[in-house]
Amino acid sequence: MSDEQQLHLTLHDGKRIPQLGLGVWQTPADETADIVRHAVKAGYQSIDTAMIYRNEEGVGAGLEGHPDIYVTTKLWNDDQGYDATKRAFEASLRKLKRDVLDLYLMHWPQPKRGLYVESWKAMIDLQREGRIRSIGVSNFTADHLTRIIDETGVVPVVNQVELHPRFQQRELCAFHEKHDIRTESWSPLGQGQVLNDPIITSIAGKHGKTAAQVVIRWHLDSGLIVIPKSATPKRIDENIDVFDFRLDDEDMGKIAAMDTSGGRIGPDPATF
Ligand SMILES: NC(=O)c1ccc[n+]([C@@H]2O[C@H](COP(=O)([O-])OP(=O)(O)OC[C@H]3O[C@@H](n4cnc5c(N)ncnc54)[C@H](OP(=O)(O)O)[C@@H]3O)[C@@H](O)[C@H]2O)c1
Repeated sequence: MSDEQQLHLTLHDGKRIPQLGLGVWQTPADETADIVRHAVKAGYQSIDTAMIYRNEEGVGAGLEGHPDIYVTTKLWNDDQGYDATKRAFEASLRKLKRDVLDLYLMHWPQPKRGLYVESWKAMIDLQREGRIRSIGVSNFTADHLTRIIDETGVVPVVNQVELHPRFQQRELCAFHEKHDIRTESWSPLGQGQVLNDPIITSIAGKHGKTAAQVVIRWHLDSGLIVIPKSATPKRIDENIDVFDFRLDDEDMGKIAAMDTSGGRIGPDPATF
């Protein structure tokens, strides 16, 4: 398969998703439009935002004139519940200046609140009404996934979870594979923390690439959807310049060995 083809993955609902996108968590609202415009010029075909990032308007402004760029946004925890989900979705779509959204994710399951099944039902209805092309979840464990699948019969196309070389989530990925759910990696660079790791820097040296490029290539070669964030134009360019090299089995083996049980950076979805 050529890299051109690898740029997209097919979801179980038949829709295609760019495998590499730009994440915009912590991208300042007043800079987001310019950063998104820069990313589109650099060749990015997908932007990952969320209601809680408070920059959906900037994403919408930056993507004006680019209806083909794939957009993901997320339902925030406070908006869970059937009616609240529908209202929150419409508000996000207005800010993004789209008629139809490519991918809507439930941001966290929030099991203690007990509203994620209801919220999922609202997302299913929004998709049936033609408002969303694909629906998925984020930060769901195998238990949360099993519950929404059992109660609705509708399998999310994507589960976006923390995943990077120090936290590889092998068990959850195996569960995803069994159910035809694509895994999307958030904090794919470990929020920058894995970039100084000597294993990564030595592989980078061997290929004449940067540490970030090696880590992004590892996600791509592992079949993951990956959304590195940068608000720095030079790094945005660097992070998409990953299609002129491949990692070999030795590199992949070394990175596989970086996985640690304590490698999680963000909250644990079972308790958050
Ligand atoms: N679903 C969820 O719950 C969830 C949670 C977290 C994140 N996400 C999504 O995943 C995206 C990515 O995760 P993330 O933002 O947490 O972290 P990340 O992409 O792993 O890392 C971002 C950090 O790395 C730096 N960086 C980026 N490219 C670099 C490069 N080439 N060289 C050196 N440093 C570089 C960035 O700095 P600068 O920006 O200063 O360049 C930033 O500090 C988010 O933006 C968001 O869209 C989702």
